[in-house]
Formats: sequence, C-alpha cells, structure tokens
Amino acid sequence: MKIAVVGTGYVGLVTGTCLAETGNDVICVDINAEKVAKMKQGEIPIYEPGLDLLFQRNIAQKRLTFTTELAGAIEEARIIFLALPTPPGGDGSADLSYVLGAAKNIAQLVKDYKVVVTKSTVPVGTADKVKAVFEAHTQVVVDVVSNPEFLREGVAVDDFMKPDRVVVGTRSDRARKLMEELYAPYVRSGNPVIFMDERSSELTKYAANSFLATKITFMNEIANLCELVNADVDMVRRGIGSDARIGKRFLFPGVGYGGSCFPKDVQALAKSASEYDYNFKILNSVMEVNERQKTVIVDKMKKYYKEGLGGKKFALWGLAFKPDTDDIREAPALYIIDELVKEGAQVVAYDPEAIENVRRAKGDMIGYAEDPYDALAGADALIIVTEWPLFRTPDFDRMENALKARVIFDGRNLYDLQRMIDRGYYYNSIGRQTITS
Ligand code: UDX
Repeated sequence: MKIAVVGTGYVGLVTGTCLAETGNDVICVDINAEKVAKMKQGEIPIYEPGLDLLFQRNIAQKRLTFTTELAGAIEEARIIFLALPTPPGGDGSADLSYVLGAAKNIAQLVKDYKVVVTKSTVPVGTADKVKAVFEAHTQVVVDVVSNPEFLREGVAVDDFMKPDRVVVGTRSDRARKLMEELYAPYVRSGNPVIFMDERSSELTKYAANSFLATKITFMNEIANLCELVNADVDMVRRGIGSDARIGKRFLFPGVGYGGSCFPKDVQALAKSASEYDYNFKILNSVMEVNERQKTVIVDKMKKYYKEGLGGKKFALWGLAFKPDTDDIREAPALYIIDELVKEGAQVVAYDPEAIENVRRAKGDMIGYAEDPYDALAGADALIIVTEWPLFRTPDFDRMENALKARVIFDGRNLYDLQRMIDRGYYYNSIGRQTITS
C-alpha cells in the first residue's frame, strides 16, 4: 500500500519505518529540509534500538523515502498518517496547531479519496476538528481516523511490529477495510485490532497512559509509606503483583515518571475533564505526588548531610528519563540536578546516551564524565537516577576506590541490601530499609 507519513519525529519515524518493513511504500514528509537531506543519506535522527537496521534496509530497498514536498507525497498515498507534535499549550491542554495546520494544507491538495489518520496523541474531539478542516477546504471525500500509538521508547520497534493491540477509531466501513488490511501483518499472532468510534479511540490513549502513571504513582506512595513503617516495597510489590488483576508490570517505585508522554498526557486529560466541568481528582493527585517524588532523593540527602549540600561533590548515574533512550524530556534527573546545584553542590554526571542532550540543556552547570567510574572520582556519594543495565552490576571494588565515601542514594533500587551491608555502605533506596553500616 502507498502511505504518507507527515512529521518525522519519534512517532512518525518509527511508524514510517515499520510500515515499510512489511512491504508498504512509505514516503515521509517533513518541513525541515536539513533533516530530510540527512535522512535521504541514511542518517537516522533519533536513537531507538533496532530501528536503524530497519531504516537502512527499507531505504536501500526504496520502500522508505523522504521529502519536504507535501503535494507529491500525498498524491498517490491511500493513507496519510499525521505524526505531528501536540505540545502542551500554556494552559496544559494539547496544542493542535500543527495537526490542524497540516490538515488544512492536505485538504487544499487532495484530489481523490484518502484516509487521514491522527497518530499523534490528541484530545477527544480532534478527529471531528480535523474532519471539519477538510470539509471547509475540499469537496473530496476524506475519512479521518484516530489510531493512537502505544510505543514505548527503547522497545518501540517491537511494540509496533508485535503490538498487544491496535486501536482504530472510525465509523467508516471504507476506512475500516483499509486499516484492517494495513495492520493484518502486525497482528498475525492473534492480537486484536480493536475498532471503535473516533472519540473512544482518542480517549483510550489518554486513559492508558494516565492509568499507568497512576499505577506508578500509587507504588511511589506505597514506597514512601514503607520507609515510614519499616516495610520493604520489593516484598509488597511482589505480594500484590502476583494477583493477576494487578499484574507484575509497572509496579516499580522510583524517582517519579517522566518522558514525553506520561506527564503531558496526564495533564491534558485532567485539563480536558475540567473543560467538561469534571474534576478528575485522582489525576490531580497523581501530578502532585509525581512532582514531589522527583526530588525525594534530594530530601533524603538533605537529611543525611546535616551540614548542608554546599561544597559537596556528587556523582550522578543516569540522565535519560529511562534506560535505552537518549530522551531527557521531563527526566527526573534534570530536577535533581537543579535542586543540587541550587544547594551549592557540584555534580558530575554519566549516562550512556543522554549526555549530549543534557549538555545542550544545562551547559556547564554540571560536569560530564566519559565513563561511570570517572564520575565517581572524589565524590561524596553516588546518586542513581536511571536504571541502565550497566549500573546493575558495577565493579564495586572500582567504585569504592573512586568514591570518597561509601554512600549511595539509589532512586531505582538496583542493589541487594545484604550486599550493601557486606560492603559497608550507607545505602538509601526507595521504599526499603536504609543501610547505615
Ligand atoms: C509510555 C507508554 O508506555 C507508551 O505506551 C506510550 O505510548 C508513550 O508513553 P514511554 O514514555 O516510552 O512510554 O515510557 P515508559 O516505559 O512507559 O515509562 C514511563 C515512565 O514511567 C518512565 O519515567 C519510567 O521510569 C517510569 N516507570 C515505569 C516507573 O517509574 N516505574 C515503573 O514500574 C515503570
């Protein structure tokens, strides 16, 4: 099938590449000429494990092409995906200007029937707004379909190629048939393509992310309580997670959720509820608790260093909002850095992928290390913010030689408590006993 993808950000690139992988002809459109020129040369602008291989292969086989020319791109396409940014506007609601702007441009160019798919996360009612733009600018019949993505960064290729489910919001039989055909190769294992109306589909995306953010936040609160009542959150997590109704996944407490989706989507859902005069109380609490959780580690440090954090030097492991990505959007590490620097501490950070992004955002406000052990040199403590696999089994001898004191504040519960006792650490993690040996 011939497909156009408008917008080559994270979602657009994964979608375009993975759609080409099953034999579709995909043309990706972006207004950024420099980026398009680079992609034509096979240069991938994002870091996503496994994507580069598919990207190169489909470019080589000419199923994946790039252009800045919208008109040419949509001419032959039967399905046009809109994968454009929907950043939070000043009031917390999603800014639809890119999506509606692209819809208008497309409407002025279409000559025959198209299925226009909103892939970006958009508030309930957006499909209707996009439809209205088409109706205002063209006589051509166009079906506007909602098809939210559920891609996790780091495993996005797998999530696209083998989705748990595909959600498609459309009431048009014609569009439904095309979408069914398009997704058939991805759901061979029997996972469903769930068809519904546009509004339910739009809300599904927000509900899924808000539910997951709530689940994490609930566990963060249980962890905080565990510390007060002297219980172990790891045990509680296992105890509740084995109930199939709760499930084992997404129960890991930490330094708060971040990333480009959860914070934005929770905020946008709460905001759209309020526009219907509905106070979505649980989401307001989720946002409040998550803000607090981001700096729980700094609060712990302030308690430990009674003399204050000024003049201390800290090694910080992990800057990305989660492992296997260089993405630092809403990364808790940034909030922790701000707090520590405000307190007069010196920070030297290491991350396997995200250093350049942080350097761009924070400049020389902190130091950057080439290697995790270099960051530890002469540090008063190690702070762990992201659970990169590399940090799970460090060389403790090297760590101890480099650190000034055996002190770890671990925001991701990476180490076994007994090991920390045996090696004589002060070890403060999330929702577990503090080791003070
Ligand atoms: C998320 C959704 O999972 C995906 O379906 C959606 O389409 C986009 O948003 P992503 O932002 O890539 O994906 O990250 P995810 O792996 O879901 O993690 C989100 C945040 O939750 C991270 O900050 C992570 O550290 C945190 N998290 C996750 C926890 O703190 N504990 C957990 O148990 C799981």
